[in-house]
Amino acid sequence: MKPRILLTRRLTDKVQKRLCARFDVVTNDADMPLSRDALVEAMTAFDVLCPTITDRIDAAVIGVPGRRVRLIANFGAGTEHIDLHAAASEGVVVTNTPDALTGATAELALTLMLMAARRAGEGEREARAGRWAGWAPTHMLGQTLCGKTLGLIGFGRIGRAVARLAHALGMHIVYYCRGSVDPSGIAGFSATQIGSLAELAACADVLSVHVPGGTETRHLVDRALFEKMKPGAILVNTSRGPVVDEQALIAALHDGRIGGAALDVYEHEPAIPLALRQRENVVILPHLGSATIETRDAMGMQMADNVECFLAGERVPNRLV
Ligand code: 8YV
Repeated sequence: MKPRILLTRRLTDKVQKRLCARFDVVTNDADMPLSRDALVEAMTAFDVLCPTITDRIDAAVIGVPGRRVRLIANFGAGTEHIDLHAAASEGVVVTNTPDALTGATAELALTLMLMAARRAGEGEREARAGRWAGWAPTHMLGQTLCGKTLGLIGFGRIGRAVARLAHALGMHIVYYCRGSVDPSGIAGFSATQIGSLAELAACADVLSVHVPGGTETRHLVDRALFEKMKPGAILVNTSRGPVVDEQALIAALHDGRIGGAALDVYEHEPAIPLALRQRENVVILPHLGSATIETRDAMGMQMADNVECFLAGERVPNRLV
């Protein structure tokens, strides 16, 4: 009998085709997250569960009596929606797809930085609404990123990819991360490690967040850090919404403490506070970090590698627990 696999969301055709060719695959075709009851039921009916960020796989779901699932193969890098401790204690293997989305997410971080610095969203809205009165010497002046300082919170795969792209734009790169960094990972551009988050915030013209979500990083960017930021600085977040205290961000923007923000993720997705949506100096995107066809194909292929290796009893490439 073929192993039974549940895809909690429809993935790209290429990925669906590869998995369906080898396994008994069931796909949730309703382009909405599965209910909790459906997830619990799935844990007793499938060998492999392939969830996404919109599925909350907590201890109760993992610990359901009569569980059949032996592998949770996440479609995505971030796994704060899966209780890894519970999985480990139940002997359930969990994998993710870290590498596949590095480039796309870095490109989107640059997109956000450039949109905020050059007021591209504001200009696009003005032009689209027919409110543009024509060229003027001081119309909608933004700021150049060349020569400015980019401060990276976190210096993992995506942080470094952003640094490489920003360096090509002529930005100076500084970063804060826990622990030391192996210099071979930053060949071809210079980047300076800063000793504390406060120091990083004080010297960055653009502060970009690249840490995983979860309890350890919740509200890492808070009121105190906004008070340390350079006046006029821009905050960029492509990591996870709860890393930034959204109410503190709204206050910092309202008080003119910082110059703007450019966001792809939110504390309570898909809810985005009106106070952010109403601000011209805030760029708002709907969690598009890895939303390219090439990247979603690659994420699916990385997930399929994890599934196939696990079911073949081979070493699993992206095993977390
Ligand atoms: C994914 C992401 O699209 O991979 C991540 O951590 O945030 C996104 O790239 C999402 O997680 C899909 O599950």
